[in-house]
Amino acid sequence: MSKVYLIGAGPGAADLLTLRAARVLTEQAEIVLADDLVSAEILALVRPAARVLKVGKRGGRASTPQDFIHRLMVRYARRGRTVVRLKGGDPYVFGRGGEEIEALAVAGVEAEVVPGLTAGIAVPAAAGIPVTHRAYTHGVTLVTGTAGEGCGEPNWAALASTGTTLVIYMGLTRLLNIVARLIAAGLPPDTPAAAIASGTLAAQRQVKARLADLPARVMADGLASPAIIVVGEVAAFARCGALDLPAARVLAA
Ligand SMILES: C[S@@+](CC[C@H](N)C(=O)[O-])C[C@H]1O[C@@H](n2cnc3c(N)ncnc32)[C@H](O)[C@@H]1O
Repeated sequence: MSKVYLIGAGPGAADLLTLRAARVLTEQAEIVLADDLVSAEILALVRPAARVLKVGKRGGRASTPQDFIHRLMVRYARRGRTVVRLKGGDPYVFGRGGEEIEALAVAGVEAEVVPGLTAGIAVPAAAGIPVTHRAYTHGVTLVTGTAGEGCGEPNWAALASTGTTLVIYMGLTRLLNIVARLIAAGLPPDTPAAAIASGTLAAQRQVKARLADLPARVMADGLASPAIIVVGEVAAFARCGALDLPAARVLAA
């Protein structure tokens, strides 16, 4: 029977795919609707007989309208095909998976979500950053740096006061603005911060700096999207060539 799988491809490295995702991609997929963030090494795993359609956006190009993606999933499923909607990271973390599962339910199409490693956890880890650490923070907040359709600007002042690690997706182009708002809301300018681009891939690059200096550092090093920004004490753990922040405190036994 036809079915749509909403699969999280993880942050990029093919060996960070879940076994379930790999099984569906290599054995069952007939139509794959892939976002641009899905890495070439993961697309190379898709069974050769499958048809791969790229439906993402990259580098300022117009994105495929969300409604059109819904229609494609439904159309191929109704033709009896096994459809994979393949997304970077996890489908339900800044991935529009909620909208897509809803559209499939409305159309009466069977669907299954295959979770993936989200970039906000896996990419800091790949750079040496534990997003929680009991010596420094009691939690982590995942937030988008974009002013999203329909949900406005994140409340940076409230976020600055949580005391949790802030993990910011899609924040690179607005970094100067975000940093200014966090500092204006009371976060100390010398709070450790890091930016990691193309995490888990061969092209991974990262910088760390005091929060106030992060935008200049990112620009000087030419970091480009996709990137994750980490703000909080744990960012001091980032492995960078030159350690420009004091080593993180060691947890007292
Ligand atoms: C539309 S969101 C998708 C998030 C995805 N669903 C997830 O769970 O990771 C795209 C953003 O995720 C982040 N991202 C995804 N993959 C990344 C990677 N390999 N390295 C750094 N950031 C990444 C970037 O902030 C990028 O702009």
